[in-house]
Amino acid sequence: MGRIAGIQIKNYGSLKDIKIGKLLFDKDGTELGNMNAIIGQSGAGKSTLADAFGFLADCLDKGVETACDLNGRGGFEKIISQGIQGSIEFELYYRESNSSSPITYELSICLDKVGRPIVQKERLRQRRANERYGKPLSFLNLEAGKGYAFKGINSGFDEEKEVEIGDQIKVELADPRQLGIVTLGELKEHSRIVKFKSFLKNWYLCYFSPSSAREIPNAGPQKYLNRLGNNLNNVAQFLHREDPQEFKKVLKEIQSKLPGISRIEPVKLQNGQLVLEFLEDGFMEPFYSQKMSDGTLKLFAYYLLLHEKDPRPLVFIEEPENGLYHKYLSGLAIEMKKSVRSGYSKQLFVTTHSPFFVNALSPDEVWVLEKQTDGFSTIKRASEYEHVTALTDEGIVLGDLWYSDYFG
Ligand SMILES: Nc1ncnc2c1ncn2[C@@H]1O[C@H](COP(=O)(O)OP(=O)(O)OP(=O)(O)O)[C@@H](O)[C@H]1O
Ligand SMILES: [Mg+2]
Repeated sequence: MGRIAGIQIKNYGSLKDIKIGKLLFDKDGTELGNMNAIIGQSGAGKSTLADAFGFLADCLDKGVETACDLNGRGGFEKIISQGIQGSIEFELYYRESNSSSPITYELSICLDKVGRPIVQKERLRQRRANERYGKPLSFLNLEAGKGYAFKGINSGFDEEKEVEIGDQIKVELADPRQLGIVTLGELKEHSRIVKFKSFLKNWYLCYFSPSSAREIPNAGPQKYLNRLGNNLNNVAQFLHREDPQEFKKVLKEIQSKLPGISRIEPVKLQNGQLVLEFLEDGFMEPFYSQKMSDGTLKLFAYYLLLHEKDPRPLVFIEEPENGLYHKYLSGLAIEMKKSVRSGYSKQLFVTTHSPFFVNALSPDEVWVLEKQTDGFSTIKRASEYEHVTALTDEGIVLGDLWYSDYFG
């Protein structure tokens, strides 16, 4: 499915210019792995970073003008870094798989003459197959909705030699507020754009709320948990319908992680809905999910998320520790790491204030955001603090070092 090897964000709130991982022209720098935690004091920019990912997903889904207003963003002028007259910019370095050459997606958004947010520039580039250095070929290049795209693979415009390789088509979008990848990502001949669009479209930002998860669902089976997690029972219904035996196994696995829960059973009601029964230690009768504690429901939702069928390629979770007993956090972090493994099917980003969660992570999995005196954020990998790596090599856990002010 793919994963992000690096991202650069410019002029998005307090993120005036930050980069994580590796970008196209970085000679050194390490690509992002599948598990990434972001820590930092209040106001350091963690939620802004989560929202920048959400903003990109919203731009794809709803167009840039609507994206600027969604999620309480308050419009372009409120989002753009204070004091900046210009554009909000993103650069994503993305890999489909280990063997494919990475793709760079650049997007900048500005205001048009009448003050409406539009896509100023959009570009996709990729090096030729088996080429690690040198200039990549642009296979989509649009300015204010006008430009070109190349069909197929290994095609594009060589800017150095000024030659076209492959089939070029002229592109002119009717609406400058829509991303070009939305339109071109519908056409089979632009297979790289189709794949990239599908990668971006399937990002999941999780703002799980236990009270929403208690609602009785009306709709039928649903494949994925939604942002608030209030379709938990529908997802359970989906997994049950797809493969009841496999679902029972998943429940068994999850129940072993939920303290005080001896069994979870899916029960089909007469109206066709599926509810989950939780058998708690000490009680003969089960409880429905509506009666479970906030923490149990939250943990259940996270574990269900980790067991999704056809997982979403990128999942961003804000502060999973909220409402959870601190001793569950290191176990949760370990399960998250296990679930993402090292392939290209799932990548996790988690913001956290919890040293207990961080204790389960290694220095290259943790990013530290800091607000500087000018009000803007900087970011550093925990492994860049030399003494931190030296101490973790000696067996001291990262969260303890953070708690004791060795970094962050
Ligand atoms: N347009 C802007 N330009 C510059 N800074 C901004 C802009 N909009 C908001 N900010 C600042 O960005 C900072 C980042 O806040 P953010 O919510 O991302 O912090 P956080 O790390 O999530 O904190 P917490 O731990 O409290 O959740 C805030 O201090 C806010 O004042
Ligand atoms: Mg926050």
